[in-house]
Amino acid sequence: MRIVFALGGSVLMPKEGASVDKLKEYAEVFRKIKDMDNELSIVVGGGNTARNYISIAREFTNEAFCDEIGILATRMNSMLLMSALGNYVIKKIPENFKEAELILNLDKIVVMGGTHPAHTTDAVAASLAEYINADLLVIATNVDGVYDKDPRKYKDAKKLTKITTKELLNITGSASIAAGSSSIIDPLASKIIDRAKLKTVVIEGTPKEILNTISEKHHGTVIVPEE
Ligand code: UTP
Repeated sequence: MRIVFALGGSVLMPKEGASVDKLKEYAEVFRKIKDMDNELSIVVGGGNTARNYISIAREFTNEAFCDEIGILATRMNSMLLMSALGNYVIKKIPENFKEAELILNLDKIVVMGGTHPAHTTDAVAASLAEYINADLLVIATNVDGVYDKDPRKYKDAKKLTKITTKELLNITGSASIAAGSSSIIDPLASKIIDRAKLKTVVIEGTPKEILNTISEKHHGTVIVPEE
C-alpha cells in the first residue's frame, strides 16, 4: 500500500520539545510499517518551533516571509525524524513531488516538510498523495479526529467517526490560512482531498495510533470520497 502521513509538528515537537525516546518510538513504528511492504512518505509539520519563530517575525515582516520561516522549521523537524530512521531514508529533503517520487522509487521512506507559502504541511501531504496516487492519506495530529466543532473551544463538540469529503469541506472551509495558524485540517488540504478523492484518516499522532491505522483499528475519523 502507498501511504502518505502528515505528521503534525506539534506531535513531534510539542511545547516541551522533542525527546530521544519519543523519536525512537516514532522511527520504530515507521520502520515497522515500511517492513510490512508499504511505500511510505512522511510530511512533517513545524509545530512549536514554527509558531515561535513566526510570532516574532510577524512583528517585522509579511505573512509570506513568515511562511518561509515556517517551511524551514518543517524541514528542521524532518531532519530530526530522518536522523532517527537510519538507512530507511536518503538524507535529502525533497523540495517538490518529483524528488519525493524518485526517493520512493529507490525503495526508501520519503521524509519532507513544506514546499511553498500560504498553506500547511497537511496540504503538502494531500498534494503528494494525489501526485503519487497514494492509497491512503493519514493526518496524524494533536486532536484524536474531526469534530463537529473545535473540541479545544467547545465542551459539547462531538467526534465524527466517518464523514464524506464534502462534509470535511464544510467543517474546515472557514479556517484561517495565516502563517502558523492551526486548524484540524488546512482548508486547501480539504479541497485537495475532495478533488483527488483521497481516502483519508485523521488520528491522534501517537506511535500506537499510527500503527493502528494500518490494521484499521484506529480511533480517529475516516474521510471517504462522496460517490
Ligand atoms: P505546519 O504544517 O506545521 O502548520 O507548518 P501547522 O498548522 O502549524 O501544523 P502542526 O502544528 O505542525 O500540526 C507551519 C507553518 O509553516 C508555513 C505556514 O506558515 C504554516 O503555518 N508553511 C508550511 C508554508 O507556508 N508552506 C508549507 O508548505 C508548509
